This record gives sequence, structure tokens and C-alpha cells, in this order.
Amino acid sequence: TKQKLWGGRFTGKTDPLMHEFNQSLRYDQRMHAADIRGSIAYARALALVGILTKDEEQKITDGLTAVGKEWEEGTFKIQPDDEDIHTANERRLSELIGPLGGKLHTGRSRNDQVATDMRLWLMDTVREIEFGLKGLIRVMVERADTEKDILLPGYTHLQRGQPIRWSHLLLSHAFSFHADLQRLQQLVPRISVLPLGCGALAGNPFVVDREYLAKELGFSSVAENSLYGVGDRDFIVEFMMWASLAMTHISRMAEDLVIYSTAEFGFVTLSDAYSTGSSIMPQKKNPDSLELLRGKSGRVFGDMAGFLMTLKGLPSTYNKDLQEDKEPLFDAVDTVSASFKIAEGVIATMEVHAEKMRQALTMDVLATDLADYLVRKGIPFRETHHISGRAVALAESRSCQLNELSLQDYQSLNDKFEEDVLAVFDFEASVERRESIGGTSRKMVDRQISVLRAALAA
Ligand code: ARG
Repeated sequence: TKQKLWGGRFTGKTDPLMHEFNQSLRYDQRMHAADIRGSIAYARALALVGILTKDEEQKITDGLTAVGKEWEEGTFKIQPDDEDIHTANERRLSELIGPLGGKLHTGRSRNDQVATDMRLWLMDTVREIEFGLKGLIRVMVERADTEKDILLPGYTHLQRGQPIRWSHLLLSHAFSFHADLQRLQQLVPRISVLPLGCGALAGNPFVVDREYLAKELGFSSVAENSLYGVGDRDFIVEFMMWASLAMTHISRMAEDLVIYSTAEFGFVTLSDAYSTGSSIMPQKKNPDSLELLRGKSGRVFGDMAGFLMTLKGLPSTYNKDLQEDKEPLFDAVDTVSASFKIAEGVIATMEVHAEKMRQALTMDVLATDLADYLVRKGIPFRETHHISGRAVALAESRSCQLNELSLQDYQSLNDKFEEDVLAVFDFEASVERRESIGGTSRKMVDRQISVLRAALAA
């Protein structure tokens, strides 16, 4: 049987279950391309300091390229002793080019190698996730732009509060995603720190040019301390924290839509494409997409919390515990990527029922506007709030709406009420009054759309 890569000092065999327990290739093969790229750059760095001849570098680079191609084409044959993506690639390289393959790992350790691969992989992945997130925001902005005429009650405590534009609500969620976009971009400089050249822990004795390596591999800086370089996984925690927060936003938006899709609200209907039925109740059309979006936020938070727990209390530098960074990271990446796509699909295809939203606008949501009417006549708001409240109570006692009270009724509450009070009872006028920045007036909704469009174009 073949020797393990590190088998020199061993006489006994690995326990079969331990062998399996130790293996990470099943999941870390996702990083095959990053591993090959890192190795090609490292071979070049070794050649630059004279450890490899130009010819040797070329043979190693060609070999690595061939191994990479096998992964791409699905022809790479995994052997039982391939412990992880690094040993698998090196084993295959040596099969292809002979003992020369054994020169590649000079001065390098899997410790700086794996940290480099993870960062490289995540840098690429963040770009893809950014693309997905922008897709979601774009759909929300487009929908908001075409549905500005639709009004509905805005809620606090899930109680009707004030009239708003439907677009304003959609955009409120889009602004959470916009902040996520900014936060995601701000992670990049901290992911983009090169560990390669830190060796096992103490640094590289062949004095490879790490700044050259950083440039070759697209890193923006170099880890300044080798112990830190091999032992740091904060960039993974930070990404998962980011993902947890983004999923929280997805979840809150999903919850709004779950509520709005009930028969009791009837504000939106999800398309069949994002709904499922009941195995017993034939009439059911359930918003499973939204519930899964809501539910998966817990899962991503769990990925983050679990790995943070793994890190806590670890001694300095590399410990095998760190191999446990991969599954939660990959799971968080897959979950957040899929969630953005599903959310985008749900938003793009759902039906919005403007009439139902309109019907939910009862006159009481204009009670604030009624108080504001008296403010404009010079009465302090604290008093007008009270007067408007009494009007609400009066209407309630008569089982009528605020606009059905007579002018005399209003004048009995306060003598500043005049004929023009009737103009208060207009939902469109109410939203249009909210025209300072951030308000729900048409102009301010348009402003929000431009802000988001600019962010998407950047
Ligand atoms: N598969 C390992 C990981 O993912 C690679 C690093 C192994 N290093 C070591 N010293 N055993 O962390």
C-alpha cells in the first residue's frame, strides 16, 4: 500500500474510522481551482528564488494545469489516501510529472496553503454573491418603480398606522439589502490578506517574495505575522456574520409577505412557482418559499455560531479543529446564494392586489393627519393629538368613519376646525405630504429608486 504524504515517522496504521474522520476531500474539493492557482503561483515564487529551475517550474505548472483540468472535466480519480484537496492534488501531480512534483511543497505547509485556498475561494465567491444580491435588489427596485400608485396601510405593532406607498415598503427592504451590499464589499480587504509564505507557522526560510505572490493571486495585502497567517479564520466568521444578518433581512421580508399572502390580508398572491400544496387539504396554497427563507436564517446563524464556538479557546496557529471551518462556510454560502435567488423569483412573480390594499385603508389611519391639520392652525401637537383621538373615539362610538362626522361634530371638539377639514380625508394627499427625504411621497420614492439604481450601477 502507498505511503501517506506524512507517513515517514509512522510505523502503525491509521484506524479506518479515524482515516475517514480525518478526511476533508469530500467537501474541500470545492476549492480545487483555488488550490491549483495557489500552487502555480508558489512554483513561480520558488523559481524566482532559485529553488526550481525555469524548466522545473514549467513542468510543475503544466502538471498542475493538467490536474486542474481533470477536476474541471470530472475525470480526477480520488484515491483512498487522498486526505484533502491539497494532498490529492500533490499526489496526482507527482503521478503525472514524477518525483519533481515533490519539490513544490518546499517551504510550504498545508497550513499556509489551506488558509490561502480558503481566502482565494471566498474572494471569488463573494463576487458571485454580490452579483446575486444585486439581482434581488434590482427586481425590488423595478417593481417599486412600476407600482408607485398603490397605497396600503403602513403598520407598527402589526396595527394600521399611516398610509404609505407599496413601493415605499418594498424599498424599505431593498435598503436593508443595500446595506448588506456595502457590508459585503467592506469584508473584501480583510479576506484579501495572503497567508501563503507563512509556512507551517514560523515563516518561509527560502525567502519567497510574498508581495509578488499577493500580486499574482490578486490579494490586496500580505499577512504580516506568520502565526496569525496560518491560524486566523476571522474572515470566515465575519462572512458568516454577514450572511446571518443578510438572512435576517430576507427573513423579515419573508414574514411581511407571509402575512400579506393570508386570505385575511390578501395583499399579495405568490405565483404557483413558489408555492406548494397540502397533502390533505385540497384548497391549500402555502407560501413555502417564504417560510423556507425565514427558516433558513436560523440555519446560517447556526453555521456562524457553531464555528465561532470551534474557534473559541484554540491555541495559537494551526490546529485540526480549523478543518471544521469548511462545512459551515460552504453551507452558509450555498444557503445565502440560493435564498437571494428564491427571494428574487418570489418578488418578481408575485401578484399584488392593489384593490385589497386600498380596502385596508380605513379613515382612522388619517388620524395623525387630522392632528397635523390643527397643528397648521397653531395648536400644539400634544393637544391636537388628544383632539384627534377624541374624534376617533366619537366615530367609533357611532360606528362610522372619521370622514362621516359632521363639521359641527368637529367644531364641538375644537373651534379651529373649518370646512377644509374634509380635505384631510384623502390617502393620496396624506402620502404626498411626506415629502422630506425618506418620506413616502412620490418624489421621495423616486429619489430612493435613484439612490438604489446608482448603487447597483457602481
Ligand atoms: N485539510 C486541512 C484543513 O482543512 C488542511 C491543513 C492540514 N494541516 C495539518 N497540519 N494537518 O484544515
